[in-house]
Formats: sequence, structure tokens, C-alpha cells
Amino acid sequence: MLVQQSSKLKDEILKLKKEKDVVILAHNYQIPDVQDVSDFTGDSLGLSRQAAKVKQKTILFCGVKFMAETAAIISPEKKVLLPDLEAGCSLSDSITVDELQNWKKQHPDAIVVGYVNTTAEIKAELDYCCTSSNAVNIVNTIPEDREILFLPDMFLGSYVAKMTGRKNMRIWAGECHVHAGITPEDVTKKLNSMKDAEFIIHPECGCTTPFMYDVADGSFDDKKISILSTEGMLKHVHESKSTNFVVATETGILYRMRKDNPTKTFIPASDKAECQYMKMITLEKVYDALVNERYVITVPKKIADKARLAIDRMLKIK
Ligand code: 13P
Ligand code: SF4
Repeated sequence: MLVQQSSKLKDEILKLKKEKDVVILAHNYQIPDVQDVSDFTGDSLGLSRQAAKVKQKTILFCGVKFMAETAAIISPEKKVLLPDLEAGCSLSDSITVDELQNWKKQHPDAIVVGYVNTTAEIKAELDYCCTSSNAVNIVNTIPEDREILFLPDMFLGSYVAKMTGRKNMRIWAGECHVHAGITPEDVTKKLNSMKDAEFIIHPECGCTTPFMYDVADGSFDDKKISILSTEGMLKHVHESKSTNFVVATETGILYRMRKDNPTKTFIPASDKAECQYMKMITLEKVYDALVNERYVITVPKKIADKARLAIDRMLKIK
């Protein structure tokens, strides 16, 4: 879109959202234009917290469907809009309700912890919901002798098992195709091209495990490597004294990193790490969603009431 056109559309959106008393929440992976018109940009946990406390009656969610569903579950009295119903998530698709129910039957005494990247139906089957920024803390609140079923992300699961030292965590073999696609080879190439760089990794990444072992056995300097949620990454790079960073997550995060830290340099671990679902949300669709008040995301009350218990437990833990 031409710059002039996009700035006109942005002005229209800003005017309309005020007139209609709509709050716009955008995930850190959204395209720059969409982040520019949002009231809050953040990670899954931060956006869930915002959805719970905003005063506006309508939330326009610029992210993927499970995020809009989470907002609808937390705030059943609000109208939640998602600009494109096709904005899904390969990770949330990696487990079905039948599969989870069967797994639970095989481990009837286990506590079930599920990542926020899951459908509302899956959340209704969980004891605890978690995000990348609080998964370790949530697992730490569960008595050590209780078996845990962790789903659906295997890389986040193995990271949490390592950080908590739990030996009784069973981990579902799901993955996000974007993060799983960032390979140790991609990372090594980028780190070699920027010798003094800090390395920041999202725990959904396929490259996480080998690097965690490198840190553990001392072959990688642990001061220069951090495994963080998207918002955790933004905070870390802002506070760090380093000036160069290799960033292993979806490339949308680089926009805010560069904007907030103009004197620092950020390069993606993989230029191919783009989530096509996140990128489905465009300025035109945001405008259309505001004008036509669509697409309304609703979750059946029976499912929402059960899912809310797991989400509320998550929101209580930092
Ligand atoms: P964060 O919760 O770290 O933002 O990650 C969520 C995610 O992977 C969305 O794709
Ligand atoms: Fe899902 Fe991966 Fe896209 Fe995040 S980046 S929305 S986990 S497919």
C-alpha cells in the first residue's frame, strides 16, 4: 500500500475506534501498520491481562483466533472482533480434543497444563493454562509428586522440564511450524556474522534444545543467551548493555525492537520465520472489522466457563 494511502487509512481507523469506543490489541508479531493503530501491543499473557481490564465494550483483536477466543472467554460481556477468521495457528492445531481426552484417560491423576496457543475446547480440558512467560512459574506451583501432562508445544515443554528439573512431565509432540523451522544451522550462521551479539530465543523454537545443552555444559556463554517470551525479549533488549542481538522468533517483533532501541542492531535468526496467520491481519481488514463490526468471536458458555477456570489460574500467577 502507498504510504499516503496507509496514513489516510490509519487516521480513519484511529477516528473510528474512538467514535465506536473500541480498543485495539495487537500481538508483537503483527505488521508495523497494524501495531501503529493499536492501543496495546504485547505477548499472549500481556494481551490477556489487557483484555480483562480494558473499559471499552468492544475489543478488536489483531492476532490469531485462539487469542481472540481467550479474550472472549475472559470478558464474556464484551464484544471481541477478529479481522480475519482464517488467522489460525499450526501449534493450536497440533492437538485435538479427542487426543487430549484419550491422553488424560491414560493418566487419570495427572495435572494438565496447556499453552495458551490452544482452542477454547482444549482449554476447557485443562487444569492450568500458561504462556511462554509464566510456564515455568506455573509448573513450579504444582506439587513435585504430581505427574504433569504438558501440551501442545514440545520445545516449550522440554524447556520447562529443564528449568524446573521435573522428571514426571509428559510432553505432547506438537510444534509451531514457524519456530520449529528456525534451525541450529540458521542460528550458527547468524551468530558467526555478528560475533559480539547476544542471542535471544523464544522457547517455541526448534533450535532451543541444543542451545540449552550448550549453555548447561559451558560451551556457550550463558550471559549471552536468553530464552524469553516476546514481551520478555522486548524488555530484555531494552535493559541490556549489549548493542547487537540475534533474535530467534517471528520476524514481526523486530519492528518494535528497532523502534524502541534506535541505537541497537537486531537481526533475525532466520529471515524465513514469518507467521502467515499473523500476517493475515492488514490495515484494510482492521478498517473493515471496525466499520462492519466483524468477525465476532464467541465461545459457547459451557466451554467458556470451564476454560475460564484454567485461564484465571494462569492470570493469578506472574
Ligand atoms: P508470546 O506469548 O511469547 O507472545 O508467544 C506467543 C506466540 O507464539 C504467538 O505465536
Ligand atoms: Fe501459531 Fe506459530 Fe503463528 Fe504463533 S507463530 S500464531 S505459534 S503458527
